[in-house]
Amino acid sequence: MTSFEYACSTRIDFGVGAVNRLPENLTSAGFGRRIMLVTDPGLVTAGIAARVTDLLEANGFSVTLFDLVKPNPRDSDCLEGAAKFRSRWCDALVAVGGGSAMDTAKTIALLARHGGTPQQYADGELSYGEVAPVACVPTTAGTGSEVTRSAVITEEKTHRKMTLKHEWLRPQLAVLDPVLTRTVPKTITAATGVDALVHAIEGYTCKRTQPISQAFGAQAMSLIYRALPTAYENPDDIEARSDMLLGSLLAGLCFGSADVASVHCLAEALGGLYDTPHGLANAVFLLPVLKYNASENVALHAQVARHMGVASDSDSPDEAVSQMLLALSEWLQKLDIPPLSELPNVSRSDEARIIELAMANSSTQSNVREMSVESYRAILEEAFAGSHP
Ligand SMILES: [Fe+2]
Repeated sequence: MTSFEYACSTRIDFGVGAVNRLPENLTSAGFGRRIMLVTDPGLVTAGIAARVTDLLEANGFSVTLFDLVKPNPRDSDCLEGAAKFRSRWCDALVAVGGGSAMDTAKTIALLARHGGTPQQYADGELSYGEVAPVACVPTTAGTGSEVTRSAVITEEKTHRKMTLKHEWLRPQLAVLDPVLTRTVPKTITAATGVDALVHAIEGYTCKRTQPISQAFGAQAMSLIYRALPTAYENPDDIEARSDMLLGSLLAGLCFGSADVASVHCLAEALGGLYDTPHGLANAVFLLPVLKYNASENVALHAQVARHMGVASDSDSPDEAVSQMLLALSEWLQKLDIPPLSELPNVSRSDEARIIELAMANSSTQSNVREMSVESYRAILEEAFAGSHP
């Protein structure tokens, strides 16, 4: 008999035009009027930050802009954001952007209320309670961070990716408008979309999964596998953009109360060491990890193949798994994902360090098949040898 717990307290407003309802959503969720808007310089240039600021100010909110968010967000930026939040007497945060903006906002919300450093919370030296309220407006379809209770922050000194995880970090509000994702560049659409599929697959298969995560994951896989190539090829296809944003949200609801696993452990090692975009780092490890995991868990991965729509009930589990591996390889090529050996700065001579970081990642324990230094080495070697993912 299965027993499990599942929680997600985030209020969700999804749909074309949803961003226009942000002010009323903030008010009805009980947010204060002094908002810190957390975003990245690209969204400032694109005018999206100004659009949200104007919308908030027209509805009686005051806005302090924090636009220093970088890909693979750093501890130092979070500390700077928290200092600004306090000095401007802000009382809530709105993150506009991808996972980096959302994770930075969650961490600022914690540091502004409770002091300390991200390290002290990640390492369990400090505990905390309620943080400043956070609302998320994702502009990419990938991370799912708008509904998860975690934030991944890089320790600048050591390149370690730290995961802060607590129910307090779950955003109170997520406003998802597919229109905001329409201008995302092709390469980012592809990389963030692959990240979302990996969330669904890892959340569905990992040791900490449960039936509710699996239900969300199954739907997410089906949507993302179908919609991503269309969104990549036709950026203005609002149906595909909408399916991707919904798919990444469902993937967040899947892994957010389960875990990710070894694809992410390797990807986070790469992100910490070389600043590799998170989705791209996931993409290059997806196939080698899936092959390793599926060889011991055929029936489970046959389910994944069926949810993605690349195998039917009449296919044997072995057939379904091989069809899935082949289909995913073609899918990644369609998205022009480069192989590991072509990613900038990545060096094979760092293999031991990558393995060390992956082994130290707590999600290694969640991988459905036991991981060891040797298994990570074999996966890395396969990824380095591949001419395509
Ligand atoms: Fe991810």
